[in-house]
Formats: sequence, structure tokens, C-alpha cells
Amino acid sequence: MKVTHFARTDMPQYIRNPPLLESTLIGDPLAQFAAWLAEAVSVGMIEPAAMTLATVDADGRPSARVVLFKGFENGGFSFYTHYDSRKARALTSNPHAAATFWWDRLERSVRIEGKVEKLPRAVSEAYFHSRPQGSQIGAVTSRQSQVVATREELDARLAANEARFGNAMVPLPADWGGYCLLPDAIEFWQGRANRVHDRLVYRRQADGWRVERLEP
Ligand SMILES: Cc1cc2nc3c(=O)[nH]c(=O)nc-3n(C[C@H](O)[C@H](O)[C@H](O)COP(=O)(O)O)c2cc1C
Repeated sequence: MKVTHFARTDMPQYIRNPPLLESTLIGDPLAQFAAWLAEAVSVGMIEPAAMTLATVDADGRPSARVVLFKGFENGGFSFYTHYDSRKARALTSNPHAAATFWWDRLERSVRIEGKVEKLPRAVSEAYFHSRPQGSQIGAVTSRQSQVVATREELDARLAANEARFGNAMVPLPADWGGYCLLPDAIEFWQGRANRVHDRLVYRRQADGWRVERLEP
């Protein structure tokens, strides 16, 4: 495939959905999000909960990566990760973050902007222990975002931890847990014909949410 000038000859037209209207939007953006996520699940996407999370470090440099949305906590979008990772270090110095979902089968995207807070330890603990034991050992083993010399080194550390824990309970590591992204803005984007898409953004106000329509 030639990618120097990547252009599809069969550019998709986004015509799946009826218009996204202010009048049919749910008043609570989290409920609106939940409705769209349920639709993304129902059309059989592999990871409908995958969101691209962008952070900015102490030097003002942005970075982005995919994490899994794990539900609402304290009115925010929760995700779990390593507290020593690159994203976590960025969030320590700058708690502002943004996340996007892209559901191609629905021709829809959601953008979230706000501040990130750590989840209470008890919430992380409950989630950690709801995961398969193999994932728990994986979390203990990984020094996320650190350079490792070889795959073998990582595998040896994993094998050592598997031997150490056997079938025993794996304690929640101090450097692992959840965050929630508390939104001040949530945009719902829906594809329309000829790239004249619908964009409705909820902005947090002192007394609730204001919805604005943006040009595509
Ligand atoms: C589909 C998918 C889901 C992922 N889910 C998570 C997640 O929930 N938590 C996480 O820490 N990393 C997750 N990752 C890995 C991250 O994208 C990333 O590699 C990792 O968090 C390290 O990022 P950082 O070095 O910027 O901190 C996922 C990757 C993909 C492709």
C-alpha cells in the first residue's frame, strides 16, 4: 500500500444515524455517554471502552495513549494504571487531561476535557481484586514506562512472581490504582454526510450543564 499520499478512493460517507439534535440529547452528559457506549457494545466493537488519554508533562509536552474506561466514579471517567508511569508522572505535575473515544461502527466520537484525580485506595483495591489473578501478577511485575533491556528479563520477573504468589491473593501494589477524569466539557460528535457533522458540547456551569453546537 502506498502511504505517501494516503487517500482512500472509497471515502466513507457518514450516513448511518439520524441527526444529533439538542432536543433529543439527554440532560446529563454522563447518561448520554452511557447510552452511546451501550450502542458501541451492541454493534460488537472489540474495545468499545478504549479511550485515548492525553496528558501534558511539566515541560508542557503532550503525550497520548489508549486506556480502558472502567465506569463512572465520583462523576468522572475512571481508568486504572501504574502510578509511576509516564502518564502518572505527567498528571502529578499537571492534572489537566483530555480523552477521546472513536466508535467507527457508529460513526461517533466523544471528547472529554477536565481534571484528573486519584481514586480512593479502597476503590482501586476492589477493582484490582476483581481482575483475573494473572492480570494482578502482571500489574505487580510491570514497571510501566521504564526501559527494560530484553523481553526475557521481563518474563523472568513474571515467572518469579507467579512462583511467589502461586494461588495466593496478590496485594494491591502501592504504585498501581485508578484515576477519574472529572469533566468540565464533553463533546458528542456524530458523522453526517459530506463532512458536515453534528457536534454538541456540554460545558459545566455553576448550576449544571450548558449545551452548545459547534461547526464541524
Ligand atoms: C486497547 C488498549 C487498552 C489499554 N488499556 C490500558 C489501561 O487500561 N491502563 C494502562 O495503564 N494501559 C493501558 N494500555 C496501554 C497504554 O496504551 C500504554 O502503553 C501504557 O499505559 C503506558 O503509557 P505511558 O507510558 O504513557 O504511561 C492499553 C493499550 C491498548 C492498546
